[in-house]
Amino acid sequence: MVTSSHPNPYFLEAANIDWDADGAPRAGIYGDIYFSQESGINESRHVFLFHNQLAERWQALDPEKSGRFTIIETGFGTGLNFLLAWQLWQSVAPPNWQLHYISVEKHPLHPQDLKRAHASWPELQHLASILQHNYPPLLPGQHRRMLNSAQVCLDLLFDDALACLPALLDSPSRRSPRSQNSPQDRTPYADAWFLDGFSPASNPDMWHDTLFACMGALSKPETTFATFTSAGFVKRGLRAQGFQIEKVTGYGRKREMLRGTFSNQAAVDAPFPLNVAVPWHRPAAQSPVASAIVIGAGLAGCSTARALAERGVQVTIIERDAPASGASGNPQGVLYTKLSPAPGDLNQFALTSFLFALPYYREQLKNGAIEGDLCGVLQLANSSKDAAQFEQLKHFLSDQDWLQFATDDELSTLSGIPLAGCGYFYPNAGWLSPPSICAADIDYPNIRVINHCEAISLLNTPEQNQQWQVQDQHGQIIAAADAIVIANSNDALQFPQTQYLPLKPIRGQLSYINESDLTQTPRCVICHEGYLAPAIDGTLCIGASFTLRDSDTTVQQRDHDWNLSQLNALSPGLLKDGVVPSGGRASLRCSSSDYLPIVGAVPIAADFAKHYAPLGKDARRVIDTPASNYPNVYINVGHGSRGLTSTPLCAELIASYICGEIRPLPRHLCESLSPARFLIRRLIRNQRIS
Ligand SMILES: Cc1cc2nc3c(=O)[nH]c(=O)nc-3n(C[C@H](O)[C@H](O)[C@H](O)COP(=O)(O)OP(=O)(O)OC[C@H]3O[C@@H](n4cnc5c(N)ncnc54)[C@H](O)[C@@H]3O)c2cc1C
Ligand SMILES: C[S@@+](CC[C@H](N)C(=O)[O-])C[C@H]1O[C@@H](n2cnc3c(N)ncnc32)[C@H](O)[C@@H]1O
Repeated sequence: MVTSSHPNPYFLEAANIDWDADGAPRAGIYGDIYFSQESGINESRHVFLFHNQLAERWQALDPEKSGRFTIIETGFGTGLNFLLAWQLWQSVAPPNWQLHYISVEKHPLHPQDLKRAHASWPELQHLASILQHNYPPLLPGQHRRMLNSAQVCLDLLFDDALACLPALLDSPSRRSPRSQNSPQDRTPYADAWFLDGFSPASNPDMWHDTLFACMGALSKPETTFATFTSAGFVKRGLRAQGFQIEKVTGYGRKREMLRGTFSNQAAVDAPFPLNVAVPWHRPAAQSPVASAIVIGAGLAGCSTARALAERGVQVTIIERDAPASGASGNPQGVLYTKLSPAPGDLNQFALTSFLFALPYYREQLKNGAIEGDLCGVLQLANSSKDAAQFEQLKHFLSDQDWLQFATDDELSTLSGIPLAGCGYFYPNAGWLSPPSICAADIDYPNIRVINHCEAISLLNTPEQNQQWQVQDQHGQIIAAADAIVIANSNDALQFPQTQYLPLKPIRGQLSYINESDLTQTPRCVICHEGYLAPAIDGTLCIGASFTLRDSDTTVQQRDHDWNLSQLNALSPGLLKDGVVPSGGRASLRCSSSDYLPIVGAVPIAADFAKHYAPLGKDARRVIDTPASNYPNVYINVGHGSRGLTSTPLCAELIASYICGEIRPLPRHLCESLSPARFLIRRLIRNQRIS
């Protein structure tokens, strides 16, 4: 029996469904039904869609613009409310707009129960099958899914509402008046609330002041809510947070329900009731962004450009060479992640970004937009420490279908080559062609790429509405825009704004051999100290050497030797004698000192030194000064050895900052990715920061 010194970070208590005689699902824990068999659809439409006036509001959206409408729901359950909202959205909202649907769920349904519940609604089958196909594994955390070519962005937060709604907030320490028309107000808000969850009588814990406080903090004038309950304490709780409440006729036998609209003033007067005080991460007010420059056309830059362009931003990419000419130019890369049995931000980010990337790329492969093969990835234990960790992971994750654990015989059966030891297998992962991903990302109407042009300096121009200009080595302006995203990997150090970042270049080389150089053919990707992927057109890529503090990108024999020796160690006899690589490719990974990517607003180091100096004496001191950042300058670098996995979600994160949307990650992970973390750590250790 495996024991662990820490709690299972993957634990989640799924819904335990009892099916009534009439086929309606009932939640064992709460003893309440999810929806009534004969009137579930009509009741949901009445309570949530009609009383948030969604049809009228969506018809009134400007078809000439693009934007998003955000709904937050408490209790995803079977997804009925979601499916109905999506169905209505498809029939009335303008095509350029995106529905952002955020739902929290403490006890998600097992996929088979979800499917069984959906069988009650033949009219929703098409959308229900898309949802079933994209339903996240039952793991705690925030799971983002882009559905129907990003028409809908679904964030499923599998956790208690009282834990995950506060994690959606930026870190306000005090209330400020909110206006939906204020150009400086980029704080993310909901447009409508579906206040579901079982009734206050059967689920009193959820209907807590923290829930009402989060609703207040995430609402702006004209944000509406609707709920089936008319309980007095719900009415009072919401009124105290600034909602104007109406009692209206409920559905069917329910005489009354509540609906309402957020009004600014009461909330401004109320003290902010939640403890979310990490001011150094709080973004300062930013002006709206219509255009952006992205520096660097690797996976990070191209995915960021695409995420922004899909939101209607005009994007110019400046690339020193050509797209995918740095690390992202490798012909094959593995879509994988390494899991740990211990909780922690590194592990949580690794898992969240991996689970986002899998369906994201699967869609693109299906459309033929990118090249690759999701043939499965086998991760082998490289040491006895790894093997012990795998045992713990097996203990925690044995019931997941996206992960299988394998020993000797199974390893060889899965991979098609003789292997020994133990490992885990991602059946839905595989290899991808990074250059094809970069090319697909930038093939979009409002993206322009300027190749063979090096960005040398970034200048803010107060006289030009605070626009940013990028200059080349001759001082010529290459491009100007409202915002800049620095996505040029290790070369971010060339800009004074980001030169303090602890970036480490790590040289890596692939070696190419012929498929016929092996005695057997691999069926899937195998990750060990190096990696081996199935051949493309008869050529196998073997990777990859790993040399710290080496920025040389010429192909070297010693790296070929290392790659071949790893292959020999993996499976003696697999490589025929006397094989000489037919070629190779060397480039640089870019890693941060804590191995997490660096993604977020770029802080002004000198201001940090001034504002947060007292942290050197008392690391816990709360200093109520918002972070001082360069206006509309962001960074997306440090993707280390897993850029394929991390860049799609990081691109969403950058776009959410720039476009003022609710983030794809909980606040503590946003803080762990923020470039400001290094400044704060140095201040706490009394080190110089510039
Ligand atoms: C050998 C090797 C094997 C790898 N294998 C895998 C794998 O199997 N799976 C995986 O997920 N990851 C893998 N990686 C890591 C992955 O390749 C990187 O994480 C990813 O490519 C990083 O993308 P990026 O856009 O940050 O950087 P890059 O792809 O390096 O892009 C940076 C771009 O910025 C441009 N640039 C730089 N300075 C300027 C400037 N001043 N102006 C304009 N343009 C500029 C460069 O020309 C370059 O095109 C591997 C890396 C290496 C080296
Ligand atoms: C009535 S069901 C929701 C029905 C759902 N909206 C639908 O369309 O099917 C209530 C849901 O709230 C969830 N829930 C209850 N308490 C919760 C909490 N504290 N945090 C998050 N979800 C909760 C339950 O697990 C259940 O799935």
